[in-house]
Amino acid sequence: MTPPPDPAEFRRVIGAFPTGITVVTTVAADGVAHAMTMSAFSSVSLEPLLVLFCAEKKARFHDTVLARETWAVSILGEHSEAASSWFATRGRPLEGQLDGWATHPGAVTGNPILDEAIGALECRTYAVHDGGDHSIVVGEVLSASTPSDGGPLLYHRGAYRALKPE
Ligand SMILES: Cc1cc2nc3c(=O)[nH]c(=O)nc-3n(C[C@H](O)[C@H](O)[C@H](O)COP(=O)(O)O)c2cc1C
Repeated sequence: MTPPPDPAEFRRVIGAFPTGITVVTTVAADGVAHAMTMSAFSSVSLEPLLVLFCAEKKARFHDTVLARETWAVSILGEHSEAASSWFATRGRPLEGQLDGWATHPGAVTGNPILDEAIGALECRTYAVHDGGDHSIVVGEVLSASTPSDGGPLLYHRGAYRALKPE
């Protein structure tokens, strides 16, 4: 049998698959709001309404979100590159990381939602599956809203992109 591809080759090939970008948020037991950029996000089921994201086990967000019942997903628009970069910065201060970002509490869970999001979901954790060095977190959708209009922020081969105008 041929050996599996090395991680660099895997990253190069998987980078051909374009994604949207989300910021997932939750509020820790001590009241501190946590947030993290996630492109590994997908719709899963209509009955019940389910979505998933994959969080790296060593990310600080991982243990916090698994300890909480609910979280929110902000789908980023084409002008939200700064938000994507900030909430992906390793070692950013946990406390106050959402300061300076316009947010509103989700109507059902109170988890922060970015005002600039072009779509937002509030979710309750439905299942957590092992995914190697990531956990696959499946959430039942409790609310859906459209805070802002606009095209999506895309990610492809390590770079941000926007849709071509129609
Ligand atoms: C465009 C983009 C997409 C990302 N998507 C994911 C993802 O889906 N899952 C994940 O675990 N990390 C993802 N990351 C990396 C995390 O955002 C980053 O490791 C995390 O914010 C580190 O936080 P920490 O310092 O609290 O551990 C992504 C980063 C970028 C730039």
